[in-house]
Order: sequence, then C-alpha cells, then structure tokens
Amino acid sequence: MRNILKINVLGCLFLLMMLPVQAKSVSLSTTEKVQLEKEKKMNRFLDDLLKKMTLEEKIGQMSQALLDWSPDKNPLDPGSDGGKDLRLGRVGSIFNVAGVDVSYKLQKIAVEETRLHIPLIFGFDVIHGLKTVFPLPLAEAASWDLSAIERSARIAAVEASAMGIHWVFSPMVDIARDARWGRIAEGAGEDPYLGALIAKARVRGYQGDDLSKNNTVVACAKHFAAYGAGIAGRDYNAVDLSERQLREVYLLPFKAAVEAGAGTLMASFNTVNGIPASANSFLLRKILKEEWGFDGFVVSDFESVKELVAHGYAENEKDAARLAANAGLDMEMKSNTYRNELLKQVEAGLVSEKVINEAVRRILTIKYRLGLFEDPYRYCDANREKTELLTPEHIRAARDMARKSIVLLKNENNTLPLKKDIGKLAVIGALADSHDMLGCWGGLGDQKDVVPILQGIKAAVSPNTEILYSHGCELESKTPEDFTEALNVARQADQIIMVMGESAGMTGESQSRIRIDIPGNQEALLKEVMKLGKPVVVLLTNGRPLSIPWEAEHVPAIVETWFLGIQTGNAIADVLFGDCNPSGKLPVSFPYNIGQVPLYYSELSTGRPKAEKPDDPFRSRYADATNDAVYPFGYGLSYTTFEYSNLRTDQPVLPMKGSIKISVDVKNTGNCSGEEVVQLYIRDLSASVCRPVKELKGFQKLFFESGETKTVQFVLTPENLNYYDANMKWRVEPGTFTVFVGGNSRDVLKTNFQLN
Ligand code: NOJ
Repeated sequence: MRNILKINVLGCLFLLMMLPVQAKSVSLSTTEKVQLEKEKKMNRFLDDLLKKMTLEEKIGQMSQALLDWSPDKNPLDPGSDGGKDLRLGRVGSIFNVAGVDVSYKLQKIAVEETRLHIPLIFGFDVIHGLKTVFPLPLAEAASWDLSAIERSARIAAVEASAMGIHWVFSPMVDIARDARWGRIAEGAGEDPYLGALIAKARVRGYQGDDLSKNNTVVACAKHFAAYGAGIAGRDYNAVDLSERQLREVYLLPFKAAVEAGAGTLMASFNTVNGIPASANSFLLRKILKEEWGFDGFVVSDFESVKELVAHGYAENEKDAARLAANAGLDMEMKSNTYRNELLKQVEAGLVSEKVINEAVRRILTIKYRLGLFEDPYRYCDANREKTELLTPEHIRAARDMARKSIVLLKNENNTLPLKKDIGKLAVIGALADSHDMLGCWGGLGDQKDVVPILQGIKAAVSPNTEILYSHGCELESKTPEDFTEALNVARQADQIIMVMGESAGMTGESQSRIRIDIPGNQEALLKEVMKLGKPVVVLLTNGRPLSIPWEAEHVPAIVETWFLGIQTGNAIADVLFGDCNPSGKLPVSFPYNIGQVPLYYSELSTGRPKAEKPDDPFRSRYADATNDAVYPFGYGLSYTTFEYSNLRTDQPVLPMKGSIKISVDVKNTGNCSGEEVVQLYIRDLSASVCRPVKELKGFQKLFFESGETKTVQFVLTPENLNYYDANMKWRVEPGTFTVFVGGNSRDVLKTNFQLN
C-alpha cells in the first residue's frame, strides 16, 4: 500500500511538473498530501544524516552481522570484535536477535555509543510463525485461503515485534516445481498466480497498513530470483532459464510482493543464466529497482557475497564486494566483504560514492519507515513480550489454519470421517507420537508446545474408544525391521491409522533428495498391515510432494497433513472425526514417480500431445509410465461432493477494451456442508509464442450447505490474459481462448471465447 501510494504521489508530482503552466491546478487528495509531506520530511532527514556520515559509517549500514551467542564472541561484550565494530558504527543490522532484553541492549549501544546514533535493524527467520508455529508455508498455501494466510503472517508479526524483531526474512515466494528440492516446503508451490496472491497476503500480514506501528515488521521477499529452479532440484544449484520463464513464472510473486509494499528483498544463492543473483544487475537494478520502482533495500543471502568467489564470478573478496555493490546489492548478510573491502574499492574509484549513497539511503529509509529514528526502542516492550506470545487467540488461529491446510487425497466408500466411538483404534507410526511437527523453520517454537497426532486423537475420541499405539518402524531405516509389535496392535484394532512420511528435517534448506517415496520400511509395514484386511487410513506427514502410487491404489483413505505446527494433533483429529470438513487443495502436483519431476500442470503442449492419440508411441510420453500426476495441482476432496455444470460466458467475444463474465453452477451434492475452491484456468489456443495448456487465472473458496447450488462468477479482462510475446512485450493477442472451471486442474468443464 505504502509503496503504491508513494508511486502514485510521485507520479502526480511528475505529472505536475510536466503539465503546461496553466494546467498546474491538478490537486492531490488529503491523504496524498499528507503522504507527500511525510516523504519530504523523511528525505530532508535522510539528506541531512547522509551528509554527516563518513564513508566507513555508510558501509557499516550496508553490513549485517550475525548475533553470535558463543560466550567468547558476545557482541554485548565491549572487548569483543562484534562489540567494537558496533560501537564504531560498522554494523547496520544484526540478525538472529530475538528477545526484548538483548534487542534493547544492542540498540542502546547503537543509539548511545555510536557517533551518529543510528539505530540497528534486527532481522530474524520468522517463516511460519515465531512462538505460535503455524503450518509450513506450503501447507498454508494448500488452504487457498488468503485471509487466513494473511492472519497467520499478522500473528507472526505481532509475536516477532513483541520480541524486539523488526524484520522477518519472509515470505519465501520461490516457485518450486521440483519435489526433490527440500525448500519446496517453504514456498507456496508451483503456480505463479497463486504464489503471487499468497505473497501479497503475507506481505500485508507482516507489514499491516503502517510499518511504524509497534506490532508490524518489515517483510523480506526471498530468494530473488529463481532459486527454486536449481538444476536437478539440488539446493544452491545453477539456474538456466529463458527470460520469459523467469518473468512469467519465477518473478511474478516477487513483483506482487513489491506491489504490496514489501520493504526488502533477499538475493538468492544461485546463478541465473551464469550470473550469481547476488551480483546480478539485470535482476537487482534493471528489473527490481528500475522497472518495478522498488524503493526498499536488498539484502544478500547468508554469505552469498563471499560465495561469488566460489561461483567463479569474483576473483577474491574485494572483487566480490565490488561486483555485488555495483550490481545493486544493498546489504551484505553475515560475510564481511563489504565491511573489509568496500572502502578500498571506493577509494580506488571502482565503486562510486553514488552507489554507496543509494544503498545507504534505501536502508535508512526502511529504518525510518519502521519508526526507529523516532523511537529506537519501539519494539522493546517487555510487557508485550510477556502478554503477546502464544496467546489463546494465536493458538486458536494456528489450529484453524492447520485444519484449512489439510488435504484429503482419497476417501473410498466414505471411510472418513471416523466415528468417535470406534471400539479399538490403532495408531501406528514413528511420527504419530512425535513432537517434531514444527516443520523446517520452527522459529522460536518449542516442541513442548506441539500437540502430537496421538494426543490430538486421544483428546477427540469418546471415552469408550480404546487407543492402541505402536511406533511401528523407524522413519529411515535401511535394514529390515521387526514389525511384530505393530502387527499385534493392528490385529486387535477395529480401525487402523498409519502415520507415515518424512521427518520435519527432511525438507528445508540443503535437504534435496533423489527419492521422494516414503522412506525406510514404512511402506513395507503398511503392506503387512493391509494384509490384515482391516480398515486403514494413512496420514502423510511431509514437506514436499511424495510419490505414493502404491498407497494411492490400495489404501482406502489418505490424508495429506504436511507439518502443521503446534496444533498438529488437534487439527488432524478435527478432520479425522468430522468436526471439520477438509477443504485444502494441493498447491503442487504429486507425481507417480520421481522420474516425472519437474512435474507441473501448467506445461507447454508439444507437437505430439499424448492426449490426442493415447495409444500412439510416437507421442510426448514415457514408455513406462503416465505423464500425469497421481494427484494434480488444485486437487483435494471433501466429505461432501460438488458437481459442476453449465459453464458459460455472458458473450462469445471479450472485447479488447472490455471484460467477459464466466459463470458456472456448482452444487453440493453430498450430505454435509463444506467448502470448495472453484478454480478457473485459461488457455490461449494459438499465439506468437506457445502458451501453457492451462494457467490458473482465478479461484474462489466458497461455503455450500448440503444440497445448495451457487452460480459462481468470474470476470476476465484482456489484461488477465497478458503474456510476454516474441519480442518480450507484455501484451495479449486477439484469438481464441479456452476457459476451464473445476475443482482441480484436471477435472474441469471447458468452453471457448474470442478476444478481439
Ligand atoms: C539462508 C537461507 O537461504 C535464507 O532463507 C535465510 O533467511 C538465511 N539463511 C538466514 O538464516
């Protein structure tokens, strides 16, 4: 908002200057005037401050230190290096500061002991909650519920700011289409449209409508850019992408985050077409700052400036500092190439003072907008720290978000929901009684606060139900295990719940894997259990799409539960026993086999699409497997069923300067109420550049009573159909479009319209 408003105001000013003298009466609204005055005041303040700063102090602002908790390096100790640099104004930001006490003490040093009293900005990895840990970002994305996602980020901001944190390294908005990549867990999945909306929601949640409030924090959209497209799904790996793919897929959520006013971005570790992102002026200067008008600052990733040497892009650290600064990388995280080398580079005339001034102004702008110059201790309220963490309201929201994130993958013969009064219920699996449910970025979450699955189930069932539990087998064992205990438990049961999947640490940074099936002996145990012929439900815990073809074929009910944070057990029980009707939809495709990866619904066609002649071998297909996902993007069942009919447009033609209304009737044909995510996709049937077979362009999550029919309407304008043409112009061409509507990306109704 702030950004948009600012651009508008600046736009108006520019207009005023360009208009002939007599037309200069264009008037600004009161809000715009107030905003303009604020900006002017800030700029006067920053001009003044910049004039007073030495070059070394400026470079200090561009340097972020890591709070080292080891006793010999305590930055609060004046004798330590950290303390000395801090006092000399050689540190602009510290990361990993959490807690009012420590943030107050560090801020006091910056404000009282440095020459110019410039406050520090404290950053922290708050990715899906701080103390109240919410579901993994990928899981939250499965809710397709933008206001719930915004609320989750809002609560994270309240808790972070109550602990003295100003800046969260979130949202992670990397599009990820490769299930091998461990960090797929941290983003919103494979689709740029959904990813962009979620990016906006998260930025709004963190930053609220006023950054200077004491309960808002500045967001950091990361990792800029295309980090999720690493070759072969390997973390940190090189990225080779056409500019079209880059802009249409990977950059879209970043652009959305910038439009929503994100104050900062983090440059990624990877190269993009041969140039490391942390020294990539095409990304940082041309696209981000010039084209998008981003006026916040860019921080590197952890030591990614120093890593320019290992990339083979910089000869040494001084070269690295020069290349990164010149490319528009404003702040360096953790490594010290700026602090140690940049001054000499400026003195040698290899980096201009203009570059330094621009970077520093951006950093100081964000500090100013956070209100830190007005009150550097604004976020150091010990009372808030006591009262605003893990509140009952936050815990309720975490449970609600967790329920919304669950995806029902299979439910043959209405196996689910289970009755609460069920006789003997066996719960089997190493993850069933585990507190390790925070996911790969647990913030400052405490596993003690996690409700394990078993505990949630015990709390939900009736007193007559007896719960039997077995650990089953290890998660990742490579040698055969004894299943006797688990099978004994299963034999006694009337109903069996198998909890299977990966541990929280198996996704996240540096957790790329070449296998995405259920690890260890878990599937072997499941097969033995299934032989008993009892009703079985599988609960999956995982942070990436798993390949589960055997389960998909043989197990009657499968529930995707990801890692759901502190309320895991309660939320799962809510769904298992029908207190909540699941409504999640996959934000990523689930492949049959790792060999299909990267697999995503929004692919290009080929000259030989398989669908046209399924039996012809000379088609784009695998000789030994299907092309399809076992569970496609957008897929997820409910305890009720929805029927789609009567897809229509209000006119056959979408005029170039008009809009078209698309309607569909959706009926809840089952016996209970429920929510459905009605999804709209389009295809441009022929264009000067081949277009994907389907692209998500709209969705609505709606509640239906049993038996209720709703006519759901979407409006498309030509802008919604834009793409980069052969000359990289963002535009739309006249022609025929297919519009698809359905409850997932595969099972859809379709109709055509013309654009001209
Ligand atoms: C490296 C990760 O890539 C990034 O996401 C994170 O914010 C930084 N480390 C800081 O922990």
